[in-house]
Amino acid sequence: MIDSSYSENPCLRQTLKLQELLASLAASDCEFVVIGSSALALQGWDVTPSDLDLFTYNSEVDRIRSLLDVGQDKAAWIEDGEARRVECETRLGPVDIYLDVSGDLTFDRVEKESVVIVFGREGHSVKVGSLAHVRDMRAAVGRTPVPVDSIPPAHKNETPHVIAIDGPAGAGKSTVTRALARHLGFTYLDTGAMYRSVTLAVLEQRADPDDHGEIARIADGVEIGFRGGKVYLGDRDVTAAIRSPNVTEATPHIAAFPEVRSAMVKRQRQLFTEGAYVAEGRDMGTVVAPDAPLKIYLTASPEERARRRSLETGEPVTEVLMAIEERDELDSGRKLSALKAAEDAVVIDTTGRSIDEVVEELAGLARDRGIV
Ligand code: DC
Repeated sequence: MIDSSYSENPCLRQTLKLQELLASLAASDCEFVVIGSSALALQGWDVTPSDLDLFTYNSEVDRIRSLLDVGQDKAAWIEDGEARRVECETRLGPVDIYLDVSGDLTFDRVEKESVVIVFGREGHSVKVGSLAHVRDMRAAVGRTPVPVDSIPPAHKNETPHVIAIDGPAGAGKSTVTRALARHLGFTYLDTGAMYRSVTLAVLEQRADPDDHGEIARIADGVEIGFRGGKVYLGDRDVTAAIRSPNVTEATPHIAAFPEVRSAMVKRQRQLFTEGAYVAEGRDMGTVVAPDAPLKIYLTASPEERARRRSLETGEPVTEVLMAIEERDELDSGRKLSALKAAEDAVVIDTTGRSIDEVVEELAGLARDRGIV
């Protein structure tokens, strides 16, 4: 799991396979939060992963120690100011298991405010402390706020200036993405509108949907523009037309053409070299901008998503729910750029939460990562 030369050769410290280590931990049913330099590394910061700090309930400590296969002689209780921790020397490297750090940084608070990072195999996720938690914890044990030579994700060379927001229809993506872009002064990009525009052109030109060459020609040739909150095909305002029911129904099929996807991905990547964007779609974090310094996967329960759409369109909730489930299946089931959370995406469930609350949380994550 960890390169055997990890502890002997400091130059090889980056070979610590943090994600694999955490994946094996996440496979257990232990309640824990990852915090410290490791949390920064998982959030894209360039840090030399040193100790892995787990933050957990007192009652879980023994269970985690046995999970890590730590013998009595390899674990020591440390009282360090207000910090109480078990320092373990495991086969995998050093792991500190924290209980309380300071009056403010209780397990309950950290667990409530931590973000869920998805990685590794399907269904594997782990809670990761925020930068604020990392700072509080390090301050409590007398360390600098972040490791001195760490680099925030946005300051690394070649990092595209984009916040990637993916998720299924009705999760609140458009509203949240638009509001976040306004809040940060970034440009908003609706990539769904690009796929809808290609579909409108295909339908208007009555192209044969089995003719890949013809569809590719249209996807390469369409001039899609965003001006003043409106969408244009050439000079024509198509903002309303691309939301018509027949375009909505045909778009997942057209968006599944490899030729269409590669044409759109190329344009989106070009845009990201020209300015600062908050971009929403289905494959922003997984395909278009895998190096984005912040990737968000917004989701909500199907019922909540249907309820929101029904309020917008006036259609009955049950019908919207069926349509949403059908579209989810098409978007998630396609071979190319299927809808799924990037391994290191922060998953945010918007069910029952206000837009302002979610936008505030995302803006906080953008600040934590040095994006603004
Ligand atoms: O977000 P939306 O409902 O406007 O998206 C319309 C369709 O386009 C939807 O079926 C998913 C698809 N789409 C995609 O395949 N990739 C994207 N990046 C954005 C949207």
